[in-house]
Amino acid sequence: MLNFLLTGTSSNGVLTIQLHRPEALNALNTALLRELADTLDNAAADSAVRAVVITGGSRAFAAGADIREMADLDLLGVMNDPRPQYWARISAFAKPIIAAVNGFALGGGCELVMHADIVIASRDARFGQPEIKLGIIPGAGGTQRLIRAVGRSLASQMVLTGEPITAQRAYDAGLVSELTEPELTLERAQQIAASIAAQAPLAVRQAKDVLLRSQETHLAAGLAYERKAFTLLAATEDRNEGIQAFIEKRRPEYKGR
Ligand code: CAA
Repeated sequence: MLNFLLTGTSSNGVLTIQLHRPEALNALNTALLRELADTLDNAAADSAVRAVVITGGSRAFAAGADIREMADLDLLGVMNDPRPQYWARISAFAKPIIAAVNGFALGGGCELVMHADIVIASRDARFGQPEIKLGIIPGAGGTQRLIRAVGRSLASQMVLTGEPITAQRAYDAGLVSELTEPELTLERAQQIAASIAAQAPLAVRQAKDVLLRSQETHLAAGLAYERKAFTLLAATEDRNEGIQAFIEKRRPEYKGR
């Protein structure tokens, strides 16, 4: 039984996960984060799920970690906090994640956005790392992923002042790949997810893995890694199917083998 997530899988292989704690602007308390990690673990094992959309509500994607819950933690509490393990499981999810962002994506909410492979945002979305205003700093990758997403100057400004940026600024900086009208954000994210879900699953998985690797290695190692993954795919049935379907001018039928 899910408390803080609404989920649904469409016939085209897209699992949509909606964060649902509207009374706290979807603040990511530990129970919600655990549910999200569990749901993604299940989705990883389910071959019917080929891409995932994560969304929130109209006012907030997620307003960060739950500040009331954080208030109860002392040094030992933070040291023994299980949350980093949940974040690690979200980060290890091997299928594509598309974030559909309306309203606030702050603190842990912005960090969750940065766990997505593709970010689609409503024109009214706001992105920020306001932790400095609470006397803390981002703790779920905010400094490390933001600097890679938007560059040092803007990342430093956001983390050091805590001031959010507009969706337009996030789009211009590369954090977001498309802007939409508010009522179309989820639909557009689901369209993109469906288009990914129609591709060969093993190729999609390798592509995500190789893209992510580029942020953790230098160019020569990244190129070698890419070539290994490219070579590996030569052993798949879907590679033959994709090429044959092109030659025969028909739609490929991928089987994930
Ligand atoms: N944790 C817990 N509750 C939260 C919350 C949060 N992060 N954000 C909002 N809420 C609650 C509010 O307390 C309020 O509850 P009540 O009605 O019971 O008082 C309700 O959600 C609605 O919020 P507001 O009345 O504040 O709504 P607003 O429109 O006036 O302001 C906002 C919206 C600017 C997002 C404001 O709520 C806000 O600043 N929230 C906190 C954002 C923040 O600092 N996030 C970082 C958290 S730390 C973190 O994430 C650490 C990490 O990286 C791991």
